[in-house]
Amino acid sequence: MYQKFYNLNAEPFSLSPDPDFLYLSEVHREGLAHLQFGLIQKKGFIVITGEVGTGKTTLINALLSEIPQDVKTVFISNPKLNRDEFFYLLSRGFKIGNGDNKAKFLINFTEYLEKADQKGENVVLIIDEAHCLPEELLEEIRLLSNLETPHSKLVNIILAGQPEFEKILDHPRFRALKQRITLRHRLDPLDREETGNYVKVRLSRAGAKDTGIFSQKALDAIYRYSGGIPRVINLLADHSMLTGFIKEARTIDDKIIKECASELDLVDASHKDKKTAARSREEINRTGRQYLAKVGILTLVFIAILIIFWFFGLSADERQGLISTLTNMLFSEK
Ligand SMILES: Nc1ncnc2c1ncn2[C@@H]1O[C@H](COP(=O)(O)OP(=O)(O)OP(=O)(O)O)[C@@H](O)[C@H]1O
Ligand SMILES: [Mg+2]
Repeated sequence: MYQKFYNLNAEPFSLSPDPDFLYLSEVHREGLAHLQFGLIQKKGFIVITGEVGTGKTTLINALLSEIPQDVKTVFISNPKLNRDEFFYLLSRGFKIGNGDNKAKFLINFTEYLEKADQKGENVVLIIDEAHCLPEELLEEIRLLSNLETPHSKLVNIILAGQPEFEKILDHPRFRALKQRITLRHRLDPLDREETGNYVKVRLSRAGAKDTGIFSQKALDAIYRYSGGIPRVINLLADHSMLTGFIKEARTIDDKIIKECASELDLVDASHKDKKTAARSREEINRTGRQYLAKVGILTLVFIAILIIFWFFGLSADERQGLISTLTNMLFSEK
């Protein structure tokens, strides 16, 4: 809608994981290098993790877009499957029979891998959203990675998932799988400078001659509201360009960003930090007060027990004497 107004020939901030718009921040560059290196070296297991919207699928698509012809790949983007469905997908993907049962699949697949190895071909299984993998499939995948020659793995497996996947792998149940991971990489959000560069790169890929459509203050605000998460940057930048177009603003300033961020219900990270700090101070104070109250009550109970023991340790006469002294002290008129 706003493309003509800003002299663009494509949508600059689409939400699809299009590798043509890839911006290689430091972590994305390293991530892509890990994937490429892992494939060439037949490293076996490679794991990429990152928060929602940090670019895992985009990175995989970038890898796939450059993958040589002799690399045979199957990409599973939705791994919420049962065993049979998983083997069926692999059989279809690698074109090795109908894979209607596990035994047949394993025979066909082993043959396929050995032939590929003799021809010098590389076989890759890529699984996105790996945090959704059912446990039984994680175990099957580990067993597939056992297919190897004395020198290298016969199948490379790339698993990409949200940070909870790291926690799953840390579970003692999956220690055998964890030990097989040869490369691990985490995609962190972009920093302030990278956020600005990211916006400019995407604008220029969309055909912008002038990549200064967003003022410096606007880019700073985008960083604060998005926390450097690419998908949120896209959402906010797209919404802001639409608003800018409606207001006929050739340059988008931080006021437009703030207005759009509030419409999208995004919070300024610097305010969020202050709120979080205040909340944790309050929390610490409350916990401290609760702790002191508990210690006070326990001390009183302890003293009461001591008094009771002492009282019953006295002889009957002494107890009687003590009671009359106390009664006199409390009730005698002055
Ligand atoms: N390095 C990058 N360069 C350009 N665009 C990016 C980059 N990283 C992410 N994006 C953009 O951000 C959006 C989200 O990216 P993507 O879908 O790859 O994230 P994800 O980590 O796979 O998220 P999820 O955890 O939800 O699957 C997409 O529009 C994508 O184009
Ligand atoms: Mg994804």
